[in-house]
Amino acid sequence: MPGLVIVGAQWGDEGKGKVVDLLAERADAVIRFQGGNNAGHTIVLGEEIYKFHLIPSGILYPGKLCVIGNGVVVDLRVLSEEIEGLRRRHIDASGLRISANAHLIMPYHLLLDEAGEAKLGSREIGTTKRGIGPCYADKAARLGIRVQDVLDEKILKEKITAAIEPKRQTLRAYAKDPRLDLHQMTEDFTSFGHRLEPYIADTPPIAWKALDDGRLVVFEGAQGTLLDIDHGTYPFVTSSNPIAGAACVGAGVGPKSIDHVWGVTKAYSTRVGAGPFPTELRDGVGDRLREAGAEFGTTTGRARRCGWLDIVALRYSVRVNGLTALVITKLDVLTGIDPLQVAVGYVGPEGARFEDFPYHQSVLHSARGETVDLPGWHEDISGAREIADLPPAARSYLDFIEERLGIPVAMVGVGPGRDEIIWTDVAGELAR
Ligand code: IMP
Repeated sequence: MPGLVIVGAQWGDEGKGKVVDLLAERADAVIRFQGGNNAGHTIVLGEEIYKFHLIPSGILYPGKLCVIGNGVVVDLRVLSEEIEGLRRRHIDASGLRISANAHLIMPYHLLLDEAGEAKLGSREIGTTKRGIGPCYADKAARLGIRVQDVLDEKILKEKITAAIEPKRQTLRAYAKDPRLDLHQMTEDFTSFGHRLEPYIADTPPIAWKALDDGRLVVFEGAQGTLLDIDHGTYPFVTSSNPIAGAACVGAGVGPKSIDHVWGVTKAYSTRVGAGPFPTELRDGVGDRLREAGAEFGTTTGRARRCGWLDIVALRYSVRVNGLTALVITKLDVLTGIDPLQVAVGYVGPEGARFEDFPYHQSVLHSARGETVDLPGWHEDISGAREIADLPPAARSYLDFIEERLGIPVAMVGVGPGRDEIIWTDVAGELAR
């Protein structure tokens, strides 16, 4: 299975990092293709906890080729800190490659993100305030600064000057802010350039070579399908395309290079930030999911909104990504909740029923999940390593999802540790 895309099937935070980390061991290269340090993943390895925002999840395997693709937006300060953090823990980061064409999150993008949210007031999106939206906006406006620009001080200065010019009005309040000083910015970014030069590369050929050799390449998505700027719950979305199609654009490979697309979903639903969430639980069950699932953001520490599993949204996700299999994480978090509920449709305010994900924002904003009850289980499932080890109710929960979505389950997460996972037959040769 040479080209495998891993995407979030919900609103992000599905546990993609752990899945990619496990697959990375079998892969020649792991390539991130969109998003930036708005993402965050935690990998638990024995007693050690690792948190990454930009560096692909495979970095913990010494020398593994871990690529930050052209579709990613990069905050060089954050990236430098992550590299430094790895060095301090004696982890070999020599496999890291950063696309010379990736766009940079500049200090003014952070300020614009902050100012944009403040201006929206109660209509704010709840962004991570990491400058993601303004950076992608500059990319589209052809005012972006790219990784390769930090290798040439003169070009860098010219480009920063051109990028800041149309923003003067919006940034007026920060006119004297040292973060916007042109000379300082140029100096800081040139010095990042010197330090990061060994990692900067023309990255698509890395993927082409591995794919030509029939090796496994994992394309690592960030955020999730419903945060996609085209297909998600706009405007409450991120500014990139977390869906599988973006793997081609953001890594520089053609669609025929993608053989498998796995969608990662929690056994329930969560969302951070504002926007529609039809199965949200604003009660004790929601609190229980948050506590048991430690549902607090890796990037911003914000409490995540929690709710039942949403089959309507997942069916949509199967279609827009062309999912070939599903990875279900955090099944253990549901232990002890009996009965469980799963949304199989939506009901609008006037009683209208929807079986398919509504395209219209007004419908989506007021839709509530129409749920069915499924039996829960009480046994500790963290030791399960095969589907057969699970209690019957947990197995029928998985069967229900497979049947409703029409795709098989490849992996099931039963705890936070690297080994607390079930590989099914669908994972094929990747399983061992
Ligand atoms: P931005 O990506 O920082 O612009 O934020 C836009 C929306 O996407 C907000 O609702 C964020 O909470 C959400 N978001 C961005 N990145 C992630 C993520 O990695 N996990 C979950 N939500 C995210």
